[in-house]
Amino acid sequence: MKQAEKKEEAQAEEEQQAEEMEIDGPTPIKALEEKGINAGDIKKLEEAGFHTVEAVAFTPKKHLVIVKGLSEAKVDKIIDACQKIVNLGFQTASTYFEKRQSMIHLSTGSQSLDQLLGGGIETGSITELFGEFRTGKTQICHTLCVTCQLPISKGGGEGMAMYIDCEGTFRPERLIPIAKRFGLDEQQVLDNVAYARAHNTDQQ
Ligand SMILES: Nc1ncnc2c1ncn2[C@@H]1O[C@H](COP(=O)(O)OP(=O)(O)OP(=O)(O)O)[C@@H](O)[C@H]1O
Ligand SMILES: [Mg+2]
Repeated sequence: MKQAEKKEEAQAEEEQQAEEMEIDGPTPIKALEEKGINAGDIKKLEEAGFHTVEAVAFTPKKHLVIVKGLSEAKVDKIIDACQKIVNLGFQTASTYFEKRQSMIHLSTGSQSLDQLLGGGIETGSITELFGEFRTGKTQICHTLCVTCQLPISKGGGEGMAMYIDCEGTFRPERLIPIAKRFGLDEQQVLDNVAYARAHNTDQQ
């Protein structure tokens, strides 16, 4: 194979990988090493609380230059490396439309509510549920712990859930009938939910 062809193929592969990464979510900060940033500087970023390439890419330069041990020249190099991984440029509305079309939505367990929400709860963003007491907010969270484990074709995300409970109302036993409703193994469903109690806003 000719050198140019090889290069093109490598570039296409890299682009595909970048696209796949975007679907998979945030890129671990270690990826900067492949773009020429040394392990020591990555460690400094980690110590300052940056754990993903996106976290660095979305932070203003003025906040990066105050990271202990990073000079302005180093920060410029890091920003360049981040931009090779995270696409911050313009794209056409049709490209973005296509991306949004392939976005995974999680079923709330109610077909009508899913329809109202344009397919369910969007992944990759934060959704706030609010409403009168006893209207089913906590119930929806329990249902989502289960539906997020369903196959994508059935309104799931083929994933796991992390439940951070601020009010002490998580009831794992509630997950069992929900798992049964969706034809999932109850033990596996429970194993796929990580639970933590948050007692104050710091812990949240
Ligand atoms: N399997 C079920 N079938 C029918 N109703 C249920 C079921 N499980 C719970 N409920 C009821 O649904 C109502 C909604 O409960 P939920 O705790 O989800 O509301 P909430 O919006 O979180 O309320 P709060 O604001 O008090 O936290 C409650 O009255 C609860 O008893
Ligand atoms: Mg509640």
